[in-house]
Amino acid sequence: AIERRVNELLGQMTLEEKIGQLNLVSHGPPLRWEDISEGKAGALLNFNSAQDVARAQALARQSRLKIPPLFGLDVLHGFRTQFPLPLGEAAAFSPRVSRLASEWAAKEAAYVGVNWTFAPMADLSRDSRWGRIVEGFGEDPTLGAAVTAARVEGFRKGGLAAAAKHFAGYGAPQGGRDYDTTYIPRAEMYDTYLPPFRAAVEAGTASFMAAFNALNGEPSTANPWLLTDVLRTQWGFDGFVTSDWVGIGELINHGIAADGAEAARKAILAGVDMDMMGQLYIKHLPDEVRAGRVPESVIDESVRRVLRTKFRMGLFDRPDIDPSRLDTAFPSPESRQAAREVARETFVLLQNRDDVLPVPSSVRSIAVVGPLADAPHDQMGPHAARGHKEDSVTILEGIRRRAQPAGLSVRHAPVCDLFCRNTDGLPAALEAARQSDFVIAVFGEPQELSGEAASRAHMELSGKQIEVLEELAKTGKPIALVIMGGRPQILGPVAERIPSILMAWYPGTETGPAVADVLFGDVSPSGKLPVTWPRATGQLPLYYNRLPTGRPTLPNNRFTLNYIDEAITPLYPFGWGLSYTQFAYSDVRMGQKQLDEGQILEVSVNVKNTGAREGQEVVQLYTRDPVASRSRPLRELKAFEKIALKPGETKQVTLRVPVESLGFHLDDGTYLVEAGAIQVFVGGSALADPVGEAEILKTFRIPPMERR
Ligand code: IFM
Repeated sequence: AIERRVNELLGQMTLEEKIGQLNLVSHGPPLRWEDISEGKAGALLNFNSAQDVARAQALARQSRLKIPPLFGLDVLHGFRTQFPLPLGEAAAFSPRVSRLASEWAAKEAAYVGVNWTFAPMADLSRDSRWGRIVEGFGEDPTLGAAVTAARVEGFRKGGLAAAAKHFAGYGAPQGGRDYDTTYIPRAEMYDTYLPPFRAAVEAGTASFMAAFNALNGEPSTANPWLLTDVLRTQWGFDGFVTSDWVGIGELINHGIAADGAEAARKAILAGVDMDMMGQLYIKHLPDEVRAGRVPESVIDESVRRVLRTKFRMGLFDRPDIDPSRLDTAFPSPESRQAAREVARETFVLLQNRDDVLPVPSSVRSIAVVGPLADAPHDQMGPHAARGHKEDSVTILEGIRRRAQPAGLSVRHAPVCDLFCRNTDGLPAALEAARQSDFVIAVFGEPQELSGEAASRAHMELSGKQIEVLEELAKTGKPIALVIMGGRPQILGPVAERIPSILMAWYPGTETGPAVADVLFGDVSPSGKLPVTWPRATGQLPLYYNRLPTGRPTLPNNRFTLNYIDEAITPLYPFGWGLSYTQFAYSDVRMGQKQLDEGQILEVSVNVKNTGAREGQEVVQLYTRDPVASRSRPLRELKAFEKIALKPGETKQVTLRVPVESLGFHLDDGTYLVEAGAIQVFVGGSALADPVGEAEILKTFRIPPMERR
C-alpha cells in the first residue's frame, strides 16, 4: 500500500517539487520560510522547538502537495536529559542499556516534533586520536553491530527515524585527523568497518549519511560502490541517503568535480538522495535533468526513497505538533533515574590496587580535587542537543549529597582551569588532601578536546594534570582518580602513582549521583573498554584484533615486533574492566566440536562471583583461525553477554556463534568459511584464556547478496 501511495504522489509532482524533497536545509539562513510552502525544502534540520516545528508543518500544509517535512537533529545521547556519550555507553557492553538510552533520547526529542536523528554513528575506529571516536562504539565490529542495532531500535521505539552515519570509513582517517583520507582494502571494509552499518540496515534504520572522507581515493559522497553496490544491491536497503553538511560541494575540494553542477551530478548518480545544506541539488539538478546528464528516473528513485520513508514513519497520517509543548518537560524524575542507571553501567574500573575503592566506611572526610569535579557543561560531552548545564548534577554535588547524611565532610579544590594550564590552586589542593582521609581526583578532557574536529596529536592528560596528580600522590593519602573524556588518555606515571582509576567518559546529566553510586560501592563498576588503551600516542592506531606478524614479539630480541622506546602492549586491553568483586570461570564445555555449514559453535561456561559484593561481568568469547588461506586476526570477539551475580552465586552462560561468522570476506564481498581448526577463548577481556578448538568440516562460500 505504501508503494502505491508513493507512486501516486510521485506522479503528481513537477521536477522542481521532486528535487525539493531532496533538499535538506537548516533553521536559519539560507532557509526562507516560504521555501517550505513552495515545496522546496522536503527536510529540515536543527528545528528543536515545538513552535518552530509547528510553524514549518503549517507551511508545508499550505504547499501544493502538502508533503510533511522531516525534522532532523543530532540527537546522539539525549535531547534535554543527557545520557553518557556513545563510546561510554558502548562500555556497558549491553544492548539493553543502549536501547534504553536511545529510547529516552528519542522520546524527549519527539515530544517537541523532531522525527529524525543523525545517529547512530556506526564508524568503527582504531585510533583514539580521532575526536569523533566518542560518538561511536570503539574498535570492535561485533560490539559495534550489537550496539548500533540496539540504538536504531531504541530511537525508533522512542519516535525517531535513524540515520546510520558516516558511510563509510570515516573512523579511519590517516593520522587520526578528522576529515582526512582513508585507505581500507575492500575485504577489510567488509570484515571490519561495514558490519555495524549492515546491522543498522537489519535493525530498520530509515536512512544513511554519506561520510566526508575519501575512501581509497573515491570520496564517499560520490562513491557508487558504497552507496549503490553495497548498500542497495547487496544489502537491499530501500531507505534514503543524505549527504553530510555541504558534503556534496566538498567534492570540488576533493578534486573530483569542477563546479557545483558536476558535484551534484556525481553525488546523485552515485546514490546520495539528499543534499544537506549545499543547495546544489535544488540549484543544479533541474538543468542537469533537462540537459540529459541526469536521467529523471534517477531523481524519481531518490524521491521514492524519501517519500517511502515519510509514509513508513506515518508522517502523512499524523496531526501536527502542539506548539505549546516545551522541552522543559524534561529532565523528569524518570528520565533522571534512567540516565543515572545507564551511566553507572558505563564506568570502567581500570585499576584498583589495594582495593582503594570503594570509599571505605571508616572515611570521615573527603577532598574532591580537580576542575572536572564541578563542570556542569563539560560532563554533558559534545553534541548535547538541548542539554542545559543547569540540569546537570556534578560529581562534587553527587558526593556532597551522599556524604552529608552520613556526616562526612567534603572539601573541594579545583586546582586549575579545565585545561589545567597552570597549577596556581595546587597548594590549596594539597592542603585539602592532607586534611582529609580520602582523595577523589577528577581530571581528563574538557569536552572541547573531544568530538568533531577535535583530533589530538598529544593524548596525555592535558596541561599540568600529570604533575598535579604526582604531587597529590606524594601526600600518601588514598586516592581514586576519576577520568572524564571521550577517549583513552595517556596516563604516563599516573598509572603507577595513583592506585585506583575509574574511566567515567562523559556521563551526562546525572553524572554526580551515578559516580557517587559507584565510588561509595552501592553499585560495582561493570563497564569494559570498547577501545584499547594505549601507553603512548605513538602506539596508535592500536587495536586487539590485529593480524599476526612473521616476527611476533620476543622481549629480548630487537628484530621482532617491538618499540625500542615503549612497551608493545597496551596499558589496558580491549574488553578490560574490574569490579569490586571477582569472578571465577570454570567448567567450560563446547557443544558439537565438528561443525558443518548451518551449525553453531556453542560454548558454555560457569561464572561464579567469588567476592563479597554483587557485581556484573561481561563474558566474552573470542576465536582465531590459526591456519587459513589469508592471515587472520590473533583474536576476534564473536559473542558476549553481561550477567549479574550475587556474592557466591554461579550462573551458566552459553555463547553461540554460527559457523557462518567464522570466516572472512574476499574483496568482492563473498564470505569464505574455510575447513580447519578454530581456536576458542573465553574470559573477561581480550586476554581471555584458550578453552579449546572446534573444527570446521568443509570450505564453503556465501555470495554477497545471500549473506544475512
Ligand atoms: O550529523 C552531523 C554530522 O555528523 C557532522 N556534520 C553535521 C551533521 C548535522 O549536524
